[in-house]
Amino acid sequence: MHNVQPPLVFGGSDSEQLAKSICQYLDVPLGKVINDPFPNGETQIRIEDNVRNRDVFVVISTCRPNVNSKCMELFLMGDALKRASAGRITAVIPYFGYARQDRKAAGRTPISARVMCDMIETAGYNRVLTIDLHADQIQGFFSQNVLLDHLNTGDLFAAHVRELVNAGLKDLVVVSPDIGNMKKVDKYRQGFPDGIGVAVIDKRRDPITGKSVAVGIVGDVRDKNIIMCDDIMSTCGTMRKAIDYTIEQGAASGDDQGFYLLSTHGEFVGTALKNLDHPKIKSICVTDTMPTPNSAFCDGIGHKITVLSVAPLLSKAIRRIHDGQSISELLGKFS
Ligand code: R5P
Repeated sequence: MHNVQPPLVFGGSDSEQLAKSICQYLDVPLGKVINDPFPNGETQIRIEDNVRNRDVFVVISTCRPNVNSKCMELFLMGDALKRASAGRITAVIPYFGYARQDRKAAGRTPISARVMCDMIETAGYNRVLTIDLHADQIQGFFSQNVLLDHLNTGDLFAAHVRELVNAGLKDLVVVSPDIGNMKKVDKYRQGFPDGIGVAVIDKRRDPITGKSVAVGIVGDVRDKNIIMCDDIMSTCGTMRKAIDYTIEQGAASGDDQGFYLLSTHGEFVGTALKNLDHPKIKSICVTDTMPTPNSAFCDGIGHKITVLSVAPLLSKAIRRIHDGQSISELLGKFS
């Protein structure tokens, strides 16, 4: 595609702030779109800018609240842009909803992540740009007609951990709360200062209650400060169970020792705030792939939360995609 004009960026519901910030980095105005639902709740989209032959980027995290209406907004934006003769359309989905339903977890259940990919393709998108997908293999759920760039937060978190270490934090072990997340955690550790250990919790599902329970840990956490790293913090039940179990194994035994939580996607739904209300949790670091709910900044945990912005990373990727350059450099050592 020959791009004489700059990229054109639109923001979906709850992603306007991130889209605006991306536009500032790109030095382009935010595109105008109207989302005016029908009285019965149906999504109704109208693109206000001329998009003919333009290289268009639609920033929508398909996140809470109303995951499904955000998905619908994403699909209808794609269709509207296609029918308005956009040159190329990229879905920028910092948080990819339904990514956790990436396989048949039981008989007679759907592979919802695959359905999402099919819908995105049918809607008319040519490319997808996303960050820290729950499962890497979702990339293969798209056909060759939809090209996907998968960014990561490795450099952002490495800088955050470096700050903690520079401030005097030591005796650190990075822990993955489950085996599925271990590979990513170990990769991210490569960007952390030297000498930080690694451990993983072996979590199994109880066949009777269906609840997941920790049955073991690989790695030494005794008398250590813990960096607990997961891709998503939703109800934060996984984090809380992992913290409780790690404490049982002797972690954070010193008075000043504690837990430093890292997670790309901070959903904070349901019982999240209750689960995070623990004196041993020293800090909680998430990104703005979705807006952090105001409720999270409550008295109990608000002062512990740091939100890192993915806007610089996304804007660099958009610039490179637009200019036809490689994005490998943006993946650091974490691809
Ligand atoms: C699961 O495999 C994910 O990596 C997260 O551990 C999980 O989605 C977190 O959910 P919650 O915060 O509700 O426990």
